[in-house]
Amino acid sequence: MDNARLSINDQEVEFPVTVGTEQEVGFDIRKLRGQTGAITVDPGFANTGSCHSEITFIDGEKGVLRYRGYSIEDLAEHSTFLDVAYLLIYGSLPTREELDGFNTEITRHSLLHEDMKKFFEGYPASAPPMSVLSTIVASLSAYYPSGNSEEEVNLNIIRLIAKLNTIAAFSYKKSIGQPYIYPRNDLGYAADFLHMMFAVPSEDYEINALIARTLDMLLILHADHEQNCSTSTVRMVGSSGADLFSSISAGISALSGPLHGGANTAVINMLEMIRQDGGNFQKYVEKAKDKDDPFRLMGFGHRVYKNFDPRARVIKKSADEVLGQLGINDPLLDLAKQLERIALEDDYFRERGLYPNVDFYSGILYRAMGIPTNMFTVMFALGRLPGWIAQWMEMKNDPNTRINRPRQIYTGHNHRHYVQIGHRAIQE
Ligand code: CMC
Repeated sequence: MDNARLSINDQEVEFPVTVGTEQEVGFDIRKLRGQTGAITVDPGFANTGSCHSEITFIDGEKGVLRYRGYSIEDLAEHSTFLDVAYLLIYGSLPTREELDGFNTEITRHSLLHEDMKKFFEGYPASAPPMSVLSTIVASLSAYYPSGNSEEEVNLNIIRLIAKLNTIAAFSYKKSIGQPYIYPRNDLGYAADFLHMMFAVPSEDYEINALIARTLDMLLILHADHEQNCSTSTVRMVGSSGADLFSSISAGISALSGPLHGGANTAVINMLEMIRQDGGNFQKYVEKAKDKDDPFRLMGFGHRVYKNFDPRARVIKKSADEVLGQLGINDPLLDLAKQLERIALEDDYFRERGLYPNVDFYSGILYRAMGIPTNMFTVMFALGRLPGWIAQWMEMKNDPNTRINRPRQIYTGHNHRHYVQIGHRAIQE
C-alpha cells in the first residue's frame, strides 16, 4: 500500500502505512512532530492505534471477536476459562499436559498470606468490592518480589490468577460478615469461586455443575477485548516500568466506571427502575434519545461494535437456557428482551449502530447464580484478568514500547505577570 501523504504549510510529508493480518490499516505517524512540529488530536483515542498486538481481533462492523485467532463462540462452547487464560497469555491452546500443569500451579497459589486478612478487616462492610479488589491487588506487590526476572514474572502471573479468585470471594464474605472460606484444590476455578462465595463452615455446600459451567463461560467471554479503557490503563501504567500487580490494580479501577465494567450493575439497576415504574420501557427509550436528558440505555452501544456484540449473543442464548433449567422466572429477563426489541426497531439506535453489549444480559445470569449486584463488576474483573496479563506481557516484551506519554494542545492563559497576594482581585 502507498505511503500516506499529508500536506501542511506548503510542506508535504509521507508516513508509512502499516497493515495488520486482518487488513486493518494505520498510518505510522511517529515522525509527525519531528517533521512538522504538529501533533494529532484525538480525544478518546477513537482513531488512534496505541500498539501492534497479536492477542485479540475485533471486527466491530461485522460483530467478530477472536482470541489468538479462535472465535469467541468456539472458545465459549468448548474451552474452560483456564484453557483460554493459557491461550491468551502464552499464545497457543495448551496440550492436556500443559493445562494440567497450569491448573496445578494455580490451585497451589490460591491462598492469601494470612496477614492480608487484616486488610479486609479494615474496610467498612459497605466498601465497594471493586475498591477492595484494586487495593488488595496493589498490596500484593508488598508481599512478592516485583518480578525482575522472567521466572519471577511468570510466578507473579500464576499468583495473581490464583489469588484474585480468593480476594474477590473474601471481599464478599467481609461485606456480609461471614467467615472467609478457604480455597479448595480439588475444585475447578469457577467452582472454587462459588464455594468460597457461598459455603459456610456450619454446613455442606453442593456446587451446581450448571452454574459452575455458566460462570466459567462468562469468564471466557470477558477474558480480553483488545485496547479498551482498562487494558489501555494496564499498558499505560506498565509502560512506566511499574510491576504487574500495580498495573493490574490500576486496570481494576478503570474497569469500575459505569461506562465500562460498571455497566453490568447499572443495567440491572436500570431494569429494576423500569420495572418499579410500571414496566414502561418506551418512556426510557425516549429518555435515552433525548439530548437534554443525561439518561442512557445502559448495556447499549459500544465504541468498537456497530453491530451485535457477539458476546451478548452468546449470553442471551445462555440466559434463556440456564434460567429455564434452573426453573427461574426473572421478570427482568423479559423486560430486557422487550427493551431490546423496542430499541432495535428505533431509528435512533439503528442509525447509530447501538446494539446490546456484553453487559446487557450478563447481570441476569449473575443474578440467577445468586451473585449479588455489587459483585457483578468484580466478576468482570476476574474474567478480564488473563487479557490484562497478556497485554501487559506483550507491552513489556515489545521493543517499540516507550513510556506512554500523550501530548496536548494547550488552551489556557498565555504568560501572565505574577500578582502579590495583597494585590489580587476576587475572581468573579
Ligand atoms: N443510550 C443512548 N444513546 C447512546 C448510547 C446509549 N447507551 N450510547 C451511545 N449513544 C449515542 C450518543 O449519545 C451519541 O449520539 P450523537 O451522535 O447523537 O451525539 C452516539 O450514540 C455515539 O455515542 P458516543 O458516546 O460518542 O460513543 P462512544 O464510543 O464514545 O461510547 C459507550 C461508547 C459504550 C461508552 C456508550 O455507548 C455508552 O455510554 N453506553 C452505555 C454504557 C455501557 O453499556 N457501557 C458498557 C460498554 S461494553 C463493556 C465494556 O467495555 O466495559
